[in-house]
Amino acid sequence: MSRLKELRKYVDAELLQMENKEKMISAAAHLYGVSLAATMIAKKRGEDPELASMAAMLHDMHAYKTGSYDDHAHKGAELAREILTDLGLTSGEETEIICSAIYHHDDKLVEDGPMDEVLKDADVIHHCMNDLSKAVKEKEKERFAALCEEFGMNRQTM
Ligand SMILES: [Fe+2]
Ligand SMILES: [Fe+2]
Repeated sequence: MSRLKELRKYVDAELLQMENKEKMISAAAHLYGVSLAATMIAKKRGEDPELASMAAMLHDMHAYKTGSYDDHAHKGAELAREILTDLGLTSGEETEIICSAIYHHDDKLVEDGPMDEVLKDADVIHHCMNDLSKAVKEKEKERFAALCEEFGMNRQTM
């Protein structure tokens, strides 16, 4: 089994424990959506698509497990470190790359390392493109515009 598949198996089992099934479905859609977007962006930028995808699968797990988005990026990085250490799928260096991306993923207005940026942008792609009829959030406008430019996409929502 691939590492990504193994990680997804773990994430699926965690999500299935969520009591609110509607929230469970949107959590799964978001994690898998960001994971796909992260793979594409990483491939385009010459970053590691597997690590990008793995970071995406874990990036909001703390929020889903606790029901709170309070400091979820920083707390989520710690949770991801525990999960990755337990699963033993990644080297120490790979774990650091994934945890750094999760740690920084909510800092959408600043620029961090290349892999951190892949996860932020993948998150923004899912927020902005999951439903084009929804308005783009103020704090994601600039980043979404840059992504549209990078991927040659029309910025108009519909
Ligand atoms: Fe998040
Ligand atoms: Fe997210």
